[in-house]
Amino acid sequence: MSYETKLWKPSQPLTPGDSAVAEAGRLLSEQQVIAFPTETVYGLGADATNKGAVQRIFQAKGRPADNPLIVHVANRKQVADLVTAIPDIAEKLMDAFWPGPLTLVLESNGQAAENVTAGLSTVGIRMPDHPLALALISAADKPLAAPSANRSGRPSPTTAAHVEQDLSGRIAGILDGGSTGVGVESTVLDCTSEIPVILRPGGITKEDLERVLGEVVVDPALANQEEQPRSPGMKYTHYAPEAPLCLVAGSDHFFQKHLKQVKSDGQRVGVMASYELAEQLDHEPVISCGSRENIEEVAHRLYAALREFKKSDVDLILCESFNESGVGAAIMNRLTKAASQIVSEQ
Ligand code: TXA
Ligand code: MG
Repeated sequence: MSYETKLWKPSQPLTPGDSAVAEAGRLLSEQQVIAFPTETVYGLGADATNKGAVQRIFQAKGRPADNPLIVHVANRKQVADLVTAIPDIAEKLMDAFWPGPLTLVLESNGQAAENVTAGLSTVGIRMPDHPLALALISAADKPLAAPSANRSGRPSPTTAAHVEQDLSGRIAGILDGGSTGVGVESTVLDCTSEIPVILRPGGITKEDLERVLGEVVVDPALANQEEQPRSPGMKYTHYAPEAPLCLVAGSDHFFQKHLKQVKSDGQRVGVMASYELAEQLDHEPVISCGSRENIEEVAHRLYAALREFKKSDVDLILCESFNESGVGAAIMNRLTKAASQIVSEQ
């Protein structure tokens, strides 16, 4: 099915009765899908309690059906309506981090459509920290299932223009809220076990969670390619730009040596690097994604930078590795998934 995709730019600051939000909300009640901004990346939303509406998300994205979706809520009542119980730790986490980039995996009571949870007994829920997202959920008066609003396998969209590139003609509309803040997706945290488990690193860091919980563990599958991840989405190749990406781990000197080598093989190479590395290179094209000293800036620019290589006709992208502390863990998780090759010094 093809659509004439509407693009709305609601008034700034947003007014409660904004007509764009009201119209998008009405389309959601008619089982249509709408892309909207969150503080992390743009989401592709549909009524989480309606199987037919949710099916349209999978169709528009070309997403594998065994990969569950995150449900977005505007208030705690909507959480209570979706789960069997809210454990104390979840309550604590909501107090500390919501609205914000933290998805809590809880026991589902079956109210979310079965294709939202991909048949699992649990459901992932978050309250996004974005006025347009919250206004849209309220206008629809339903929790919204929403994966990132990209074609499956592509980098997540951080602007409405990215969503248009991937989904124009495939969805009913896009709410344009400018560029997103955090730039990488939410942290997915399984709260169904005694000690919560990070299934996907994201905008709320392990260090943030430890401050509230004391102990939190990281799903061992995130560090080990051999293990079966507990978050189904983590097993797919993701976030990939058009050209194959080679992640380079090591010193700046090693990066330069490797760049020289692949160039001498006759390949057209694009480089993605921090300002600090970029200024040492005598090479074109180099796309910079921020300063090493400001890892939040790198997260904010990461996906737009990966998309930019589409314009330059390169055979290979060499990408710098970043420090894994704080949101660096999410950046390296996404880059490792995007990479078709990793080369390390020594
Ligand atoms: O920041 C975000 O989380 C963005 C914005 C739009 O909110 N959404 C997003 O959704 O990244 P998506 O569908 O691209 O990623 C959802 C991730 C997948 O890795 C999926 O496997 C995991 O969450 N997930 C969802 N429900 C789950 C569940 N019940 N158990 C384990 N993992 C779950
Ligand atoms: Mg995604």
